[in-house]
Amino acid sequence: MRNKISIVGAGFVGATAAHWCAVKELGDVVLVDIVEGMPQGKALDLLEAGPIQGYDLNILGTNDYADTANSDIVVVTAGLPRKPGMTREDLVGTNAKIVGGVIENVVKHSPNAIIILVTNPLDTMVYLAYKKSGLPRERIIGQAGILDSARMRTFIAMELNVSVENTHAFVMGGHGDEMVPLPRYSTVAGIPITQLMPPDRVEAIVQRTRKGGGEIVSLLKQGSAFFAPSAATMQMVEAILKDRQMILPCSVYLQGEYGLDDICFGVPVKLGRNGVEQILEIELTAEEQEGLSKSAELIRSSMEALQL
Ligand code: NAI
Ligand code: 2OP
Repeated sequence: MRNKISIVGAGFVGATAAHWCAVKELGDVVLVDIVEGMPQGKALDLLEAGPIQGYDLNILGTNDYADTANSDIVVVTAGLPRKPGMTREDLVGTNAKIVGGVIENVVKHSPNAIIILVTNPLDTMVYLAYKKSGLPRERIIGQAGILDSARMRTFIAMELNVSVENTHAFVMGGHGDEMVPLPRYSTVAGIPITQLMPPDRVEAIVQRTRKGGGEIVSLLKQGSAFFAPSAATMQMVEAILKDRQMILPCSVYLQGEYGLDDICFGVPVKLGRNGVEQILEIELTAEEQEGLSKSAELIRSSMEALQL
């Protein structure tokens, strides 16, 4: 039997995620949105690209959650993106209402699914989904760190004029401007970037990574990034469905890890068929740990707005 992947929110991130999903033949796709006709139109368009691209899957657009029944994975991208000048946290009120309703429907129709959250403010939406769904923490996972690390990798490759394939980057913490890029653990061909460029260039990369989402928002003027975010989400879907046991930074519910409790936060996890198979605790310097605490404070203030 083929895997079934439902994507709620057929906007820029959702529809592009469906596109990657089809190209990689990860499974049958159900694209859900509240706008009538739009998910149906995008799904049909994607289906009609199959004969050209050589993929052969069911791709269905719908406004009805019954069509998502028994999904293996549900990706939630429903909600507003930010506008120039807004922080991700400014979206909390509106998107909490949307995501709360989505989670109820998803759990009702796919009680065994692994749910991947994308909607912002990301860590707060993961927290909301965890609390609302009643599912084990292994099955409620937020996408952010893969995107932030991919941005950092891009900037490292640009700085050193090396292949992006040689790069590895490590970004932890909340998906906000206080995220914590870790240069000590970011490498080119295994060599820490701190040995390959002067401290001011490392710092410039750290700052550009932190503001990477805002940089795209300012350029687009309408909406936010979607190619890299949807590709990052699909890496999670692939790691889970193919049971790859892949270590990736994701937002998960913490119970004491990194000295943090009752918060959803970006940490390195191992992803496999059960969702989060393991949370890794890496060694941090006092300064790095302080950065994490600052990032956690920002997430907590956004979580408090949920009044759960
Ligand atoms: P978009 O506006 O293009 O798409 C959002 C879609 O959600 C729209 O089609 C809308 O009709 C739909 N929607 C709204 N309420 C719904 C409901 N109750 N049920 C089903 N669908 C509903 O926005 P885009 O660019 O796709 O971004 C989506 C979300 O993802 C935003 O909150 C954005 O901030 C977030 N995002 C998060 C990233 C991350 O790294 N975690 C990266 C990029 C975006
Ligand atoms: C980003 O970082 C909007 O959170 C999204 O691009």
